[in-house]
Amino acid sequence: MKQSVQIINLPKILDKRGNLSFLESTNHIPFSIKRTYWIYDVPGGETRGGHAYKQNEEFIIALSGSFDVILNDGSGDKTFSLNRSYYGLYIPKMVWRSMANFSTNSLALIVSSTEYSDNDYIRDFDNFYTVLRNR
Ligand code: TYD
Repeated sequence: MKQSVQIINLPKILDKRGNLSFLESTNHIPFSIKRTYWIYDVPGGETRGGHAYKQNEEFIIALSGSFDVILNDGSGDKTFSLNRSYYGLYIPKMVWRSMANFSTNSLALIVSSTEYSDNDYIRDFDNFYTVLRNR
């Protein structure tokens, strides 16, 4: 089944010693995890991303602090504000994304369905639109 952009709530084990959340490939997110990376120490006002992936799917969690993820699947921009560590944003392939408005000391964890490949990136928005229209 083709999955669409969505916020996915993760398990949350409340405990007075401190809370715990987790995710398992395919049980909580709709892909198998091949890679994880994180974005941190983002200076105020900086923007990350500005590209789409041809194949890679991602799930983004704000482990600490907050930031916005701005997505465009061909139907205009939609902004998702992430600010809790017990949910994340699923992004299918072929969705243009940027990340902005990082709070001080924010930490973005990204899990990916593919290993890193520069060939998988579409970095030009017009090219992205052309590829999307011709699918
Ligand atoms: P990039 O994905 O362009 O960052 P942004 O999220 O701002 O678009 O990645 C920045 C650099 O880091 C780029 O030179 C490639 C490298 N990189 C890896 O080597 N492995 C990875 O898994 C990722 C995500 C990036």
